[in-house]
Amino acid sequence: MKRINSSQMHSLCVQPCFLIGTYNENETPNFCPITWVSVTYENNQYLLIISMNGDKKTKENIARTNLLSANLVSTNMLELLDYFGTRSGKDKPKNEMTFEYSDGAELHVPTLNLSRWVYECEIDSMVQKGDTTTYFCKMKNVQYDEKLKEPDGLGDINLTVLEPVVYSGMYHSIGKCLGRIGDFYKDPPQ
Ligand SMILES: Cc1cc2nc3c(=O)[nH]c(=O)nc-3n(C[C@H](O)[C@H](O)[C@H](O)COP(=O)(O)O)c2cc1C
Repeated sequence: MKRINSSQMHSLCVQPCFLIGTYNENETPNFCPITWVSVTYENNQYLLIISMNGDKKTKENIARTNLLSANLVSTNMLELLDYFGTRSGKDKPKNEMTFEYSDGAELHVPTLNLSRWVYECEIDSMVQKGDTTTYFCKMKNVQYDEKLKEPDGLGDINLTVLEPVVYSGMYHSIGKCLGRIGDFYKDPPQ
């Protein structure tokens, strides 16, 4: 293998796709694709990290409500992902496509019925860098598809059931489940 030296133009590589759900002033839902999503841990709790650049209806809604949902996008949601990502709720309501949503189980946030993994979040804190806002979000509830058997813990979520869309500038699906931590490296016998 020979690697090619490149620039930050190629910064997008292997990102999960989420649709961030917020309520507008009139209680209609707004969804917006965000792939700058990760997780950190502080004081016995996990925090979802979500980064948003520029002016967005989603950012206005969060400033007003302090709440959001993060809906994992599966491969059967690509049309919705494209629709929500190619317009802004600032211009007009995103209601030309039909989709079903429900209010969160714990928080007053819109959740997409098609999504197989949903975080209901309250904003804990945020960091502003230029016109990018990075939100640290408390996960008040996590909903997952019942077809995913009760996860045994953090290391027991079979992503092949969720069929997530992975973004690199293009959309991809994932392949097979390869195993768990400890399945591959074995300490040599002493
Ligand atoms: C696949 C995809 C991924 C995106 N990821 C991000 C992202 O991580 N951060 C961001 O600021 N904008 C991202 N965007 C752009 C927003 O989705 C876009 O600005 C959206 O129209 C904002 O909608 P709103 O104004 O209704 O909130 C992405 C768009 C697409 C299509």
